[in-house]
Amino acid sequence: MLEKDIKKVLISEEQIVARAKELGARITEDYKDRSPLMVALLRGSVPFLAELIKHIDLDIQYDFMDVTSYEGTESVGDIKILKDLDTSIRGLDILVVEDIVDTGRTLSAVVKTLYNKGANSVKIVTLLDKPSRRVKDIRADYIGFEVENEFVVGYGMDFNQKYRCLPYIGVLKDELYQ
Ligand code: IMP
Repeated sequence: MLEKDIKKVLISEEQIVARAKELGARITEDYKDRSPLMVALLRGSVPFLAELIKHIDLDIQYDFMDVTSYEGTESVGDIKILKDLDTSIRGLDILVVEDIVDTGRTLSAVVKTLYNKGANSVKIVTLLDKPSRRVKDIRADYIGFEVENEFVVGYGMDFNQKYRCLPYIGVLKDELYQ
C-alpha cells in the first residue's frame, strides 16, 4: 500500500540486517569488558535498535530519549527534551542509537547533555549518515550506510509521520515532497 509512493529502494531489508550483524559484532568486541547502556532516540531509531540488539552478545540495557531541536536562530543546536531517560547514567558507558545523522545538531546536543548527566563515555551508532549536510563537527562511531543528500524514508524514518513501518529505506516519488 505504501509501496506505490516509493520511487526507488536505496537499501533493502537484507542489507540492513547484514550490516546490523556486522555492527553488532564490532560493538560486542569493543564493549566486552563494560556493557553499554543503549540510549535510543525516539522515534526513528526503534526498528534499527530492535535489529541491532539481536546481534550484540552482551548484557546490554536500553532506554529512550525524545528530543526536538529548536528552530529559532539564537538557539540552533540546543534541544528540548520531550522525554528524558528513566534512570541515572552517572558513570555509565552510553551508546546512542540514531536513525540518521543529518546536520548533526541533535546528536551534538544530546552528547553534551549525556556528559552533563555524568556519563563516563558516549559513543554513537547510526543506521545512516548524510555527511554532506553536516553543520556540527560530529561523527558517529558506528555507521550502517552513508547516503547522498536525499530525503529518505522507511525503517523508522518518516515523512510527516508516514512511512516509518516500511521494512527498507527508500526515496519517495517527487510529487509527494511538494
Ligand atoms: P540533525 O539534527 O539535523 O542531524 O537531524 C537528525 C534527525 O532529522 C534524524 O534523527 C531524523 O529524524 C531527521 N532526518 C534527517 N534527515 C532525514 C531523512 O532523510 N529522512 C527522515 N528523517 C530525516
